[in-house]
Amino acid sequence: MKITIGSDHGAVDLKEEVKMVLKELGVEVTDVGTFGKESVDYPDIAEKVCADVTGGRSERGIVLCGTGIGISMAANKIKGIRCALCNDVYSARMARQHNDANVLAMGGRVLGFGPAGEIVRVWVKEEFTGGRHARRVDKIMALEGR
Ligand code: RB5
Repeated sequence: MKITIGSDHGAVDLKEEVKMVLKELGVEVTDVGTFGKESVDYPDIAEKVCADVTGGRSERGIVLCGTGIGISMAANKIKGIRCALCNDVYSARMARQHNDANVLAMGGRVLGFGPAGEIVRVWVKEEFTGGRHARRVDKIMALEGR
């Protein structure tokens, strides 16, 4: 699997930890930055990560900021993106099984490395269960056209 990851300055350390977990899982990772602690704007990072997903260069994306809130809001403005802010393992599992989330958001100032790693492991491995959930996801995507 290929995953593109990006963070603002609020989660650069978490990004490195998440990359280590992804590599352990055999995921091919593209990192679009940021690479330092200088302040950057999280919508710009969301745009870069999501462009890889909607452009087919990566199957999924991971976006990180201080809380995960701003960057998930930005990602969800982009057509084709279903970004789930998951700061717990249960949400990560449901985001895949029920919502077919193609982008995961987390907060670098909310989560420690251990919990974030568990969230990532679950989110990478879980599959969409389809069925009645497919109808609901289709309805979410239909909202993009309104
Ligand atoms: C940046 O200071 C901070 O606002 C950002 O990382 C994020 O938490 C926004 O939702």
